[in-house]
Amino acid sequence: MNRQRVGVVGGGLMGGGIAEVCARAGLEVVVVEAGPDLAAAAQRRVEGSLGRAVERGKLSAEEREAVQGRLSFGADLEVMADRDLVVEAVVEDAAVKAALFRRLDEIVARPDALLGSNTSSIPIVRLARATRRPEQVVGLHFFSPVPVMNLVELIPSVLTSPETLAAARDFAAEVLHKEVIQAPDRAGFIVNALLSPYTMAAIRMYEGGHATREDIDRGMRLGTNHPMGPLQLCDFIGLDVVLAVAETLYAEFKDPFYAPPPLLLRMVEGGLLGRKAGRGFYAYG
Ligand code: CAA
Repeated sequence: MNRQRVGVVGGGLMGGGIAEVCARAGLEVVVVEAGPDLAAAAQRRVEGSLGRAVERGKLSAEEREAVQGRLSFGADLEVMADRDLVVEAVVEDAAVKAALFRRLDEIVARPDALLGSNTSSIPIVRLARATRRPEQVVGLHFFSPVPVMNLVELIPSVLTSPETLAAARDFAAEVLHKEVIQAPDRAGFIVNALLSPYTMAAIRMYEGGHATREDIDRGMRLGTNHPMGPLQLCDFIGLDVVLAVAETLYAEFKDPFYAPPPLLLRMVEGGLLGRKAGRGFYAYG
């Protein structure tokens, strides 16, 4: 089935990136944020990214005009009424996401619309149960920066129908041209279940004074060809998101392996959230 009309709820780094790749794939996209200022900021972020794509010769000026023409930004969730697919990309908080799914269920009029979540770690079934159409809810987890990273994790819950799963796979693979892996509906899915213990171990190593942050990062960049070291990556993802993912994993498995170290908790409490805050493990200009 043709899913031309896409809605993205949340226009941050992830939501903005998802909206951008959808519009670049020829789809008509509305992005809804929590207020007009946030909607304007989301629009600036996506247009800035498209501008950089033009500067780097990845997009022509005419293509950018066409992509921007397919994108609109606002603060009224009611515009989701006519959408074929809605992707939720709001804050990594189970209660906030569940409340949003409840509202989307009331608003999205199309009976066969897909409802996707970009959660990094929250069980999809919990979000599905907030709706009266749990069989149409699926995890569609993108990676940052969305225009660059080729992966989408596809997560069916125990209630997702085979039709929804097939349609979501088709959307990610055939329409967005992403590589798709199917992940279990367990906290962290595949990628964060592996990434989170690694970043937690790096923070513990730094917190324990066993190595400098620079050496930890250089070690993993030069020793294993990771594009970023683990502490740089935490700053890039956002320490609040890194913490939320670790807490979800720890709550599910109760294994100290997943436990967020005190330093991470204190940094988040102190607002040192990484690049987006200007300071995390490193300072940014
Ligand atoms: N939007 C679009 N394109 C971007 C971009 C952005 N925000 N940032 C970088 N790029 C592109 C650049 O245009 C460039 O493309 P070309 O080579 O074709 O010109 C390419 O990416 C490389 O960029 P740079 O040369 O500027 O910088 P870099 O080589 O240091 O790469 C990076 C930047 C792509 C971010 C790289 O460092 C990287 O891959 N880092 C790891 C990212 C990662 O692990 N992401 C997953 C995080 S986990 C997550 O998202 C999910 C979760 O649930 C927490």
